[in-house]
Order: sequence, then structure tokens, then C-alpha cells
Amino acid sequence: MDKRKILIQLDSDPQPSVFDRVVAVDAGADEVFSYGGVKPADVQGLVHGAIFTRGPKDLKRSAFFIGGSNVAAGEELLREAQKHLLPQFGLRVSILLDANGANTTAAAAVCAAKRHVELKGCPALVLGGTGPVGQRVARLLAREGAEIRVGSRQQARAAAVCQDIAAKVSSAKLTPMANGSAQELSAALAGRTLVIAAGAASAVLLPKAARPACPTLKVAIDLNAVPPLGIEGVEVMDKGATRDGVVCYGAIGVGDTKMKTHKAAIARLFESNDQIMDAEEVYQIALSLM
Ligand SMILES: NC(=O)c1ccc[n+]([C@@H]2O[C@H](COP(=O)([O-])OP(=O)(O)OC[C@H]3O[C@@H](n4cnc5c(N)ncnc54)[C@H](OP(=O)(O)O)[C@@H]3O)[C@@H](O)[C@H]2O)c1
Repeated sequence: MDKRKILIQLDSDPQPSVFDRVVAVDAGADEVFSYGGVKPADVQGLVHGAIFTRGPKDLKRSAFFIGGSNVAAGEELLREAQKHLLPQFGLRVSILLDANGANTTAAAAVCAAKRHVELKGCPALVLGGTGPVGQRVARLLAREGAEIRVGSRQQARAAAVCQDIAAKVSSAKLTPMANGSAQELSAALAGRTLVIAAGAASAVLLPKAARPACPTLKVAIDLNAVPPLGIEGVEVMDKGATRDGVVCYGAIGVGDTKMKTHKAAIARLFESNDQIMDAEEVYQIALSLM
């Protein structure tokens, strides 16, 4: 008889996310072992507990999910977990990183854009491009061959993100842009076909008054669900709605693909014991659902 599917949730927050536990069960995990307040120093014991208990043929039925509101902390847990797998003996389990929903959200946003524009060569602007979601959106667009401006209130922060992405995606076409003042925002918007706003909750990044600076705009995607929204004129429920000739997606409109991707990624974990899923792998799953 097949062993039960166990998802081991490592969460850097003191309380492991209820949201992630519910999704895990709905996606087919038979058991969810939840650990909160997880620090890198805790990870070795947790990984050993997972890989030394079942034989290699059953290890695909154990997997890790790394969550928590702090994406950088989640990334560190992922790096640490990978160090303690023993692939040379087949003693490893699959791992999905989706701290703060950053990977599934970014993947869903880029999929939404891909439905409407050819991403290769697409002139794109990622507002809020320095946050964990924005950085992933820019990275996925870079892999698709888009020509990306990364926006930040501080140009130096945008430049650091561009450098980081360029180190991972050698073909990336990236330009850091300041977008703090109205004048800077106009320059950042000029000639863009696609704008994805991944700014902090309640921060308006693209006010309606700035729109005339971007007559070329075809697709506007806003990931901020907490009013006031990130792109004025895009509604939170928009899912491909056309407004003033622009195809619009709001945060909840993108959320459907995000949820489906999250569930599919969890289900995928139990197919083999050798997967490490970060933004790119999660994006491939989102694409497969399109
Ligand atoms: N639907 C979902 O499940 C889901 C999941 C995750 C995230 N989200 C949403 O996606 C968005 C991005 O998430 P995140 O965690 O990456 O965001 P974040 O780190 O909180 O913020 C992203 C960027 O927004 C800019 N920003 C912060 N405060 C601002 C302000 N007052 N005015 C203008 N810009 C400001 C900052 O860039 P600079 O300082 O460089 O300008 C920051 O790096 C959020 O709105 C979040 O709620 C949705």
C-alpha cells in the first residue's frame, strides 16, 4: 500500500500559516507537519527526520513546503535544506518555496501578461520591482526575453535588483528606473506596453494622472489588493477586463491562477523526490495550467 503523503511545512513566522496548511490539504497532502519560527540552525534535524525515515522509493511521498511572510528568510531556509539532502544515496525529498506567496503570485502575474502580449521583446515596466514579488516578476519576464524597466523610489535599489537578476539570467535586458516623482514616473512609463505593479499594500504606484505618459500601454496588472490600489483605474477583481483600451488584471483577478498554481505545485511535489521549486519551476507549472 502507498505510504501517506506528508507535507512538512517550514515557516519562519512564529505561527505557521493556516492558509498554507489548508491549501496543502486541499492539494492532496494526507498529513501536514507544521513547524513555526524555523531558523536555519533547525533545518538539518528536520531534513534528516524526513530523509532517514522512508526508503528512497517512498521518499516522493514526503516533501517540504517553505513559507512565512519573510521571503528572504524563506530563501535562506531553502538553501539550508538543500545542504542536508543526500542525493548521492537517493536520500532526498522535493521542496517548494512559496514564502509570502511570492513565487505563485509572480508566476500568475506573468502568465496573465502572456495571455495578451508577446513577452519576447515586450517593453515592460515592473513598479515596486524591488520587493520579493516584483523581483520575481522581473526575473520571469527576463527569462521570457522581455525588455524590462525595474522601478523603485530609489534608483540605486532598482539597480541592485537589475544586477542580481542579470547574474542569474545572462540574456536579461534590464534598466533600473526611479519612479518616485511624477516626472520620473513619466520617463519610466514612456513606450511601455506592459506594466506590472508589485508595490506594497495600499501604495498607489501608478495614479491615473500619469497614464497619458503611456499611450502605448496594452496590459496593466496590479498585485496590491489593499485599497488604495497600486494602479488607479484597475479594479481588484479585474481579470482581463478592458478599460480605456487597456487589458486589466487586479490582485484578486490574478489570484485564481495563483491558487491553482499553488495547489498544482504541492501535488507535483509528490510525483518525485528530486524537485526544488523556486520562481522558475513554479512559473512552468502556472504555464502548464494556461
Ligand atoms: N495575491 C496574493 O496572494 C499576494 C501574495 C503576495 C503578495 N501580494 C501583493 O503583491 C504586492 C507585492 O508584494 P511584496 O511583498 O513584494 O511587497 P513589498 O515588499 O511590501 O513592497 C514592494 C515594493 O513597494 C515599494 N513601496 C513600499 N512602500 C511604498 C510606498 N509607500 N509608496 C510607493 N512604493 C512603496 C518598495 O519599493 P521601493 O522602496 O524600492 O520603491 C517595495 O520594495 C503587495 O501589494 C502584496 O500585498 C499578493
